[in-house]
Amino acid sequence: MAEDSLSITDQRTGQTYDLPVEQGTIRAMDLRQMKMDADDFGMMSYDPAYKNTASTQSTITYIDGDKGILRYRGYPIEQLAEKSSFLEVAYLLLFGELPVSDELDPWVHEITHHTMLHENLKSLIQAFRYDAHPMGMFITSLAALSTFYPNARNVDDPATRLRQIKRLIAKVPTIAAFSYRHIRGLPYVYPDNDLSYTGNFLSMMFKMSESKYEPNPVLEHALDVLFILHADHEQNCSTSVMRNIGSSKADPYSALAGAAAALYGPLHGGANEAVLRMLFEIGEVKSVPEYIKRVKDGDFRLMGFGHRVYKNYDPRARIIKQVADEVFEVTGRNTCLDVAIELERIALEDEYFVSRKLYPNVDFYSGIIYQAMGLPVHMYPVLFAIGRTVGWLAQWQELLEDPEQAIARPRQIYIGEDERSYVPISKRA
Ligand code: CMC
Repeated sequence: MAEDSLSITDQRTGQTYDLPVEQGTIRAMDLRQMKMDADDFGMMSYDPAYKNTASTQSTITYIDGDKGILRYRGYPIEQLAEKSSFLEVAYLLLFGELPVSDELDPWVHEITHHTMLHENLKSLIQAFRYDAHPMGMFITSLAALSTFYPNARNVDDPATRLRQIKRLIAKVPTIAAFSYRHIRGLPYVYPDNDLSYTGNFLSMMFKMSESKYEPNPVLEHALDVLFILHADHEQNCSTSVMRNIGSSKADPYSALAGAAAALYGPLHGGANEAVLRMLFEIGEVKSVPEYIKRVKDGDFRLMGFGHRVYKNYDPRARIIKQVADEVFEVTGRNTCLDVAIELERIALEDEYFVSRKLYPNVDFYSGIIYQAMGLPVHMYPVLFAIGRTVGWLAQWQELLEDPEQAIARPRQIYIGEDERSYVPISKRA
């Protein structure tokens, strides 16, 4: 028997199987050999919501949820947030190493010079109603981009892939800003290549009649850090969608539209929006205990709390809290922050949250920062999506280069009716 193996005795047949264990994992396909007889399909594992199933090997992001560790390509998130820039982190995630300056400068130049959108895409955004959710516009625009770049479907060609990766990282802020200007009824602002990635985004969002927009360096830096923190988070819901769609060899624009749709949900990227709505609803610090009581009674969940992976303080939340202090120095403090701090204080002492290991996650403070910057709540998931675009693309590329991967096709356990004959409508009970 191999040392790193798992012995399983099938009590139905009395047979024992030795399954190799690699990195604490058995291969699900090794279960298939366990059969009752030759006609048996073989043993499967049942794992709704993939709570205990690794779908890939990956070298991109490491998380230890119990210890609250997050690393991109081995680098702790705290160091990247403090010392790096979003585009440098994007390079790291996509290519595996931090760039030397001969690599970083052309990379930044390339991204900066792909920020323009085709005018037809602008018309598409203009077709939306004045109160359209910007995430709906964002998802639609991404899907539409695939029709502008039909070559993108050549996903097995690395050079073609890289071209789309640069386009997507460059264009997502422009799409996001146009969506925002649309709902505000403001003229769209074209990209300014003299500005940084986040500076340009702020310009496209907030420039009015001034000839040159000058981003506030504190807000520019805060947004850059937020994009870094959101850039990747291994096999979460939206990334799995990106990989699933990518596994059918669909083009990256269509796959990214699907990933963004998954992010839109309130349990995932929509949570920062939900946090702010919750803070508005609570309204003042003295209402916090009553709200916590209702959460414990099961009326609703405390948004921005809890995480499938982190059973400790989300390391991103800690960094965001520091950024929030810097932002509030510029924008001034508001009640939402006071309510949030009180919520966190009470929840971290409460047995309900302590015993379930529910801590603030990345979304708890990010929405408060966005609000202080003057961004409307329905833009929050879009901001999450701008940062996460890099992670989606890095994971998509890794998938396509992984010889073990194939079209994603989970199994099911059928528990419905056995075969039965069609009943004409006149004879149905
Ligand atoms: N408020 C109150 N109770 C909660 C919460 C919460 N936010 N989250 C989990 N619980 C309770 C849940 O009711 C359950 O209790 P019990 O055992 O008594 O039934 C227990 O904790 C375990 O919950 P779970 O649903 O099995 O945990 P999960 O790992 O499947 O869910 C989660 C993870 C993030 C969906 C969940 O914690 C949640 O709904 N949080 C609020 C939404 C949120 O903030 N989402 C952002 C996630 S971070 C950003 C991202 O990665 O997208």
